[in-house]
Amino acid sequence: ENLKIDISKTLSFVSEEKVAGYKNEIASHIKALQEKTGKGNDFLGWVNLPSSIDDAQLADIEATAANLKAKADVVVVIGIGGSYLGARAVIDALSNSFDHLMTDRKNPVVVYAGQNIGEDYTAELLDLLKDKSFALVVISKSGTTTEPAIAFRLLKEMLESKYSKEESKERIVAITDAKKGALRTLADQEGYKTYVIPDDVGGRFSVLTPVGLLPIAVAGVDIRALVKGAQDMEKITTEEAENSAAATYAAVRNELYNSGKGTEILVNYQPKLHFVAEWWKQLYGESEGKENKGIFPAACDFSTDLHSMGQWIQEGVRNIFETILTISTPNRKVEIPTDSANLDGLNFLAGKRVDEVNKMAELGTLLAHVDGGVPNIKVEIPELNAYYLGQLLYFFEIACGISGYILGVNPFDQPGVEAYKKNMFALLEKPGFEAETAAIKAKL
Ligand code: PA5
Repeated sequence: ENLKIDISKTLSFVSEEKVAGYKNEIASHIKALQEKTGKGNDFLGWVNLPSSIDDAQLADIEATAANLKAKADVVVVIGIGGSYLGARAVIDALSNSFDHLMTDRKNPVVVYAGQNIGEDYTAELLDLLKDKSFALVVISKSGTTTEPAIAFRLLKEMLESKYSKEESKERIVAITDAKKGALRTLADQEGYKTYVIPDDVGGRFSVLTPVGLLPIAVAGVDIRALVKGAQDMEKITTEEAENSAAATYAAVRNELYNSGKGTEILVNYQPKLHFVAEWWKQLYGESEGKENKGIFPAACDFSTDLHSMGQWIQEGVRNIFETILTISTPNRKVEIPTDSANLDGLNFLAGKRVDEVNKMAELGTLLAHVDGGVPNIKVEIPELNAYYLGQLLYFFEIACGISGYILGVNPFDQPGVEAYKKNMFALLEKPGFEAETAAIKAKL
């Protein structure tokens, strides 16, 4: 069984013929992605990445993960954007929801740094690590990104004050460019264990490189199953091409966008998928939001957010559609008990599994939202495990490439993320930014 897509609940909003009408175009977009002839073709290394991962690479990552596990109780993953979200998405989805409180641990606790510049967050992390055995995985493709560089500077200093310089080197792994950037220079100088982010794989498409695989392996997730899932989805998409689930998703979301639905809400009914949605938001937002175009990717955790955002979705501006991520069978089983007093009136649910209630919440919501004018796409995953997450990650990646080409943008660049950096450096009076500093100060 594989990941499936169901677009039947969009077809009272867009016509099936129009959605099917994208097929010719999509066939050529898939060809352009595979033959590397479309826009952004120097960043298409992710397209055949799953099938190119070999046993030696996986064994090397597993060995490094085992090393870190043996040494550290806490592993800090330092990175931002594409250098962090993929790992966190998979780790959160597959770890126990209360993982950080577990005392009987087989794997280190993974915590994150460099994904924000909150001073309190930083101080609290430094406090936590004082009495812990810890190690660092520092990830930056450019090797020059400010947020992770600040975090690494602080954490490296702390590591080196706690352990000898030699031992510290054994507790740092750097994942960066093969040649360029400050992190590469430092890692080579210090002799850290390093992994390379291929030139032709952009940050948000890098989860299946060591960027994602090393932290995921440290957390105890089976990276072989994850990669196998992605490999199978690569194969399915190649074989089924314009008839694949990814092609259907790309077609229907573009048709919905063209019919005035400018916001897509990715919805889950399993809180463990929260960071899968964060990863997806980056993937689609950074790939498609350019040239004054692009669907705004939003996300909700249901049924939690039905008690907050549910009102807006049911009755607010009708410019949205939803994509539901649904897991057919949960991994665990909990039955609702009978209560002799039945004061809450819930005995009619006694003996039912919690997931039966969740599924009826899902179906009831879907029908209500469609009735309320919100088209719904359903992406169905048989079970929440590493294999199906691998399928899901590649499904969203390839659909994003196709979808960006339908939209007519280059999905693989991100010129818009430079504007804030330029202003921040000007305001911080970075050497070399003198003219920008003068110009921005004149605006204040
Ligand atoms: O997808 C992207 O390109 C970005 O989100 C980057 O991953 C992010 O800005 C971090 O960049 P770097 O890995 O160079 O530190």
